[in-house]
Amino acid sequence: MLQDIITPTLREASPCVLETERLLLRTPTLADVKAIARLANDRRIAMNTRRLPHPYSQDDAIEFVRRTASEGSDTVFLVENDLLPIGVVGIDWHQADAPELGYWLGVEHWGQGFATEAARAVIDFTFEEFDIEQLIAGARVTNPASRNILEKCGFQWSGVELHRFLALGSSTPVDCFRLSRSVWSSLKNWGRSTRRGR
Ligand SMILES: CC(C)(COP(=O)(O)OP(=O)(O)OC[C@H]1O[C@@H](n2cnc3c(N)ncnc32)[C@H](O)[C@@H]1OP(=O)(O)O)[C@@H](O)C(=O)NCCC(=O)NCCS
Repeated sequence: MLQDIITPTLREASPCVLETERLLLRTPTLADVKAIARLANDRRIAMNTRRLPHPYSQDDAIEFVRRTASEGSDTVFLVENDLLPIGVVGIDWHQADAPELGYWLGVEHWGQGFATEAARAVIDFTFEEFDIEQLIAGARVTNPASRNILEKCGFQWSGVELHRFLALGSSTPVDCFRLSRSVWSSLKNWGRSTRRGR
């Protein structure tokens, strides 16, 4: 039973919620496991994200939700549209001086501007809540949609690196991007509002 494996950390979490014009971004819970696994289990997503396995099982989703809760991460969000989960956006803090933005959406939700809207909300939240000087992000050189999102959010290209992708089982070239706090501040009026609550 899913209830049996809800940890105290998950129950006690005080999740942050971000609202944009069309989306609600909230902490994923074990109740979302089925939806996350269904959305993420697509090779077109795994091929473009560094750490997503393929196939992606419900156990993978459980591990993702538990890891998010145990790391106390307030910056990994399940993205909902009309109360339905559509994907995930978040910040990876493994490099404290260069937190990294990442995102994926279920394929049926592509092409409607949702990823840009969600990414902007998380970028604003992260710069506003944390004392960081920059965010980084990367997109495979074969992923123009993601590159487009990063550029629309103000990220500037910083070079190409080889990164390992779990689902590919190999390394592949990635366009690397950086968004400094000063560029973000100058772009802050990018014409939408994000509401937030706890
Ligand atoms: C990348 C991804 C998140 C995009 O989600 P989305 O909601 O469709 O993205 P958006 O609609 O907000 O923006 C995509 C932009 O790229 C453009 N685009 C899409 N496909 C494109 C292509 N083949 N060539 C050029 N531009 C393209 C879109 O027109 C849009 O730009 P616009 O708003 O100026 O028209 C989604 O495809 C996905 O989950 N992919 C797999 C995982 C992934 O790549 N994650 C990113 C890892 S860095």
